[in-house]
Amino acid sequence: RFEGLGKFSSSMAHNIRNPLGSLLNSVELIKKSNLDTPLNKETARMERSIKRISHQIESILTFVNNTPLNLHSVMLLDILHNAVDMLTLPKNIDLHIPDDDQNINVECDNKKMEFVFYNLLNNAVQAIGHNQGRIVVRIRDEDVETGNKNGTVILEFANSGPSIPSHVLPHMFDPLFTTKKEGTGLGLTYCKNIVKLHKGRITTSNQNGLVLFSIYIPKTQTFSSTDARGVVRRV
Ligand SMILES: Nc1ncnc2c1ncn2[C@@H]1O[C@H](COP(=O)(O)OP(=O)(O)OP(=O)(O)O)[C@@H](O)[C@H]1O
Ligand SMILES: [Mg+2]
Repeated sequence: RFEGLGKFSSSMAHNIRNPLGSLLNSVELIKKSNLDTPLNKETARMERSIKRISHQIESILTFVNNTPLNLHSVMLLDILHNAVDMLTLPKNIDLHIPDDDQNINVECDNKKMEFVFYNLLNNAVQAIGHNQGRIVVRIRDEDVETGNKNGTVILEFANSGPSIPSHVLPHMFDPLFTTKKEGTGLGLTYCKNIVKLHKGRITTSNQNGLVLFSIYIPKTQTFSSTDARGVVRRV
């Protein structure tokens, strides 16, 4: 039943997306031809509303896109840099990214993982808001740290900003849970689903005054014959 619902929302989202694009184009044209008229306030309001609907539509489309994992052997920092490129980073936020010598090769669906990283970074930017703040990303190799050979890499996203209230903490990954006026509450659910598909896990906590998200993923993906179904492996 859920699959049917996914297809339904996906086709609906696609059908809304195109006319929405035309609306946005028209508003932009009106804006250009009516410089400094009282209409400007209205067109700005229209533009904001269209962008708000657009965010909801894009989130639904990303969320219901349950195409199989498309596995590649990639460097984690490459995925991270692509995610950062998608982001609009305000000047009040310092972003610290690991150096090249911390880079680790992993086998994953880089496009989906890129969107996971983007969601976490974007949440961090929104949490910091207009205050001075920082986002720190770290890559940790569990094998090096523990001397074990379980092949897990840990990716940490820490941000300054208000710590997560205890009543919010248990619900953050729930579908449609949001504390934001314009949020869909699908971002973290998407992150959790994608990490789970990679046989990993994602956790969050308040730590030393920072909000911390940790992603644990295996460096290589091993699939039994049953779960190899639908997985495309290109190394
Ligand atoms: N870095 C963070 N610091 C504090 N709270 C956070 C952080 N990231 C997420 N949250 C909380 O978890 C909730 C769910 O996040 P999620 O990304 O799923 O949805 P959203 O950000 O509200 O909406 P959308 O992702 O569609 O913009 C947020 O509304 C917020 O309350
Ligand atoms: Mg979000």
